[in-house]
Formats: sequence, C-alpha cells, structure tokens
Amino acid sequence: MTPHDILDDLGSVIFDEAVAARTGMDRIRIRGGRRLSGAIQIGGAKNAALPLMAASLLTDEALVLFRAPRLADIETLAILLRQHGVVVDMNGTGKECALTLRAADIHNTEAPYDLVRKMRASALVLGPLVARCGRARVSLPGGCAIGTRPVDLHINGLRSLGAEIELDNGYIEARAPKGLVGAEIVFPFVSVGATENLLMAACLARGETRLVNAAREPEIVDLAQCLVAMGAKIDGAGEHTILIQGVDRLHGAKHRIIADRIEAGSFAIAVGMAGGSVELTGIELDLMGVAADRLRDAGLTIEPTAGGIRVACEPGGITGIDVMTEPYPGFPTDLQAQMMALLSVAQGASMVTETIFENRFMHVPELCRMGANINLHGASAMIRGVPRLTGAPVMATDLRASMGLVLAGLAAEGETLINRIYHLDRGYERLEEKLAGCGADIERIGADGT
Ligand code: UD1
Repeated sequence: MTPHDILDDLGSVIFDEAVAARTGMDRIRIRGGRRLSGAIQIGGAKNAALPLMAASLLTDEALVLFRAPRLADIETLAILLRQHGVVVDMNGTGKECALTLRAADIHNTEAPYDLVRKMRASALVLGPLVARCGRARVSLPGGCAIGTRPVDLHINGLRSLGAEIELDNGYIEARAPKGLVGAEIVFPFVSVGATENLLMAACLARGETRLVNAAREPEIVDLAQCLVAMGAKIDGAGEHTILIQGVDRLHGAKHRIIADRIEAGSFAIAVGMAGGSVELTGIELDLMGVAADRLRDAGLTIEPTAGGIRVACEPGGITGIDVMTEPYPGFPTDLQAQMMALLSVAQGASMVTETIFENRFMHVPELCRMGANINLHGASAMIRGVPRLTGAPVMATDLRASMGLVLAGLAAEGETLINRIYHLDRGYERLEEKLAGCGADIERIGADGT
C-alpha cells in the first residue's frame, strides 16, 4: 500500500500534497557512523489511534482525537470510515494535530476487501458496526507478511454476545437485529485486536460483559478511557479481566491519544546503534515498560526528564542480552526487529525469541547481508555480535522489519539503501526528518536517485 494508491479513489484526509506525491518506489539512503544528539518529538501511538477511530462508529456525536499521527495506516482507516458515512477531518500537525470523526449517519455497513486487505486493523470496525447498526459485512483480512493472523477470536467473541455470523465469499456477515447481549468471553490466548473489538461492542450490549484473559497493553487502557469519556461503563482495563456494563447510547468526547511507545523504543535503539544522547519528548518513562529495562540491560542509559526521557549510549557500548517477546507487560513484538539490529553489534551473544507471530524474522537475511551474524532455530534467533556492519541495498516486507534495517544503516560503515519504504510510512511519521534533526545522514530519494 502507498499513500498514492489510497488517495486515487477517495481523496486525502490526512496527507498534505508533498506526502501524497510519494510513491512506493521511494528509497531511504543512510550513510552510517554519525553520532546522534538533540531532541525528537514522539507522536501519538498508531496502535492506540486505530481502535479509537473505530470507536467513533459507536456514537452519532463527534469524537475528537488529539495528537493523531499523520500515517498511511491512519489514512487507510479514515478512508474506510468515510465510506461507512463517517465525516473525518484532520487539522494541525504533531502534538497539535486534531482528528475529528462524526458518525451521525452510517449509511453503509460493509468494509470491502480492497481496504481491509491493506491493513488488518480495519477489522476493528466489525464490533462497533454490529453494536450500533445490528449488522456488518467485513472482509476477512487474509494472510499477511508476518503470519496467518486469523480473526477467529473476534468472531467467536461476537457470537458469544449473540451475533449471528456466517462466512460468505471471504466476508464476515454479522447480524444482531435485536442488539447484542452481554456475556462472559474467555479468550484462549491474548489478542490485542480481539480485546479491542469486543470491548467496543460490549459497551452497547444489554447487560454485563466479562472479558477474561484480556490484552493489557497501554493502548487498551487508552481506548477504555476514551470509551468511558463517551459514557461507557468499564472496569479493569489493563488487567486480566475487564468488566463492561452496557449502556443504551454513547456520546461524543475529546481525547488525547497516548504517546507511541514503539516509536520511542525505536529511536532509543537508534541512539544505542549510533551512539550519542537524545531527548525523546512527549513520552513518559513508565509507558516504555519492560522495553526500557531491557535496553538498559543492553547498555543504554535511560532517564526521565521534565519533557520526556533522555537516552544515551557510548559507541560500542552494547552488551548481548536475551529477549523474548510476550503480550504486555512483556517485551513487545513490535520492537523485536529493531532490538535484533541493536544486538547484532553487541559485545557477546544474544538470543531473541518470538512468541507472538510465527513468521517475524524476515529482517534476518537482510541484516546478515549487512554483516550481522544471526542463526535461526525455530522461533529463536542466535545473534553473535560483530564489531561493525557494512552498508548495503536492502528491503523489508513489514513495518518494524523495515525500521530494523534503518537502524542497522545508522551503525553501518558506508551507504545503506532501504527499498520499499512505504512500510515505514505506515507507522513512522517524518522518520528521516526526525533522525536527520539529530545529526543522522539520512534522506529520502526517488527511485531514480534524486
Ligand atoms: C496488534 C498490533 C500489532 C502488534 C500485535 C501484538 C494494532 C493495530 N496492531 O495486532 O502491531 O504486533 O497487536 O502486540 O494494534 N490471533 C488469532 N486469532 C485472532 C486474533 C489473533 O489466532 O482472532 C493470533 C495472531 O495471529 C497472533 C496473536 O494472536 O499470533 C496475537 O495477535 P493480536 O494481539 O490479535 O495482534 P493484532 O491485534 O492483530
């Protein structure tokens, strides 16, 4: 997906002309070896913004989201919501950016394949549409680069709330003409998206819903806080069991999206790779959770400041550690590729184990082409640190893997060219500008090298 694709049909909600003019053929060129110093403003969390946008379907009044990030994934969901009938408007940039969504009239409850296939999080409209309109037809997201990623937990949960669901020609057909009814839903394993979908649906279900073995990510807590501001009755968000008392209707609200802990973690790792000292503003240390602990174990200094956190590291100051991805409060899978890039230049060996997605090591062969020494054994990667990486043309097939390669490029000798950077535009706002502002030699170039 490129911003270009999605703008063709429906027109831009979010991107300015300069961004819209980019194509998927753009590349990022990095000349490694520059220390970083300065400050980087952390944006609103993509993974909080997406469910919050879907929550706008639950009310006919306006939901205003502050600190919305200008990202391709936000654009994709904005376009999907617009074709349901939501009026979407985005003003300002950075921490001043306000995204206003008003679902006064939902005239279409179908989420078509062309939009859902671009981004799996589009499935988040399912619960809110069924809860508010009594029906929805949402394309199955299908496979994606980091694994099969089914939506069975979303479907089974909605069935428990009384929806009749059939799968028809690749679509989920859901009906609840008399409304949803509260129930106990025990998730067999933790799913962020299923917890969000059912949390939203349960707000308008009759009676009480218990979500057991719910995801506990900060983005779930943020969604619950916004829903409560809209009039929902929710207890226990951020804990193992969430209790929801259904209400007849929700109203509009204004909500500030939490900071992006994955963006912050990625820039902290940039400091680890390149050396230097950078203040990440607009994020509290607590939000970084165990990621900050593991980065300290690896040799970074991370301290709170008045406006955020300061990250510092001496070049060559990284030591090998073992890391296992787990649902929150464990180490986030969305930082695994970036962490692996860091550990590939550590002193000593490291082991990285991925427990969330079965196919999330696509960055490994590319890191090896840059001189990393990594061996895969099933769900684990054994990394033997090397003194230096060397620049190379590389490409990645998903968002976080692409970021891992950018980070490797910051530490590498010579020039690294990252291809297929539309993945980066899905999740990192003004990436090259933020890193260049701290002294990195990084620029976006067209396919022809200009
Ligand atoms: C969300 C995040 C993503 C992050 C992931 C795990 C958003 C928009 N995306 O994705 O960045 O990497 O959490 O922290 O917030 N599963 C099933 N059946 C289901 C649902 C999930 O088998 O119905 C499996 C998935 O294939 C995966 C695991 O459960 O192996 C966890 O996935 P889940 O937590 O649902 O991830 P997402 O919500 O898609």
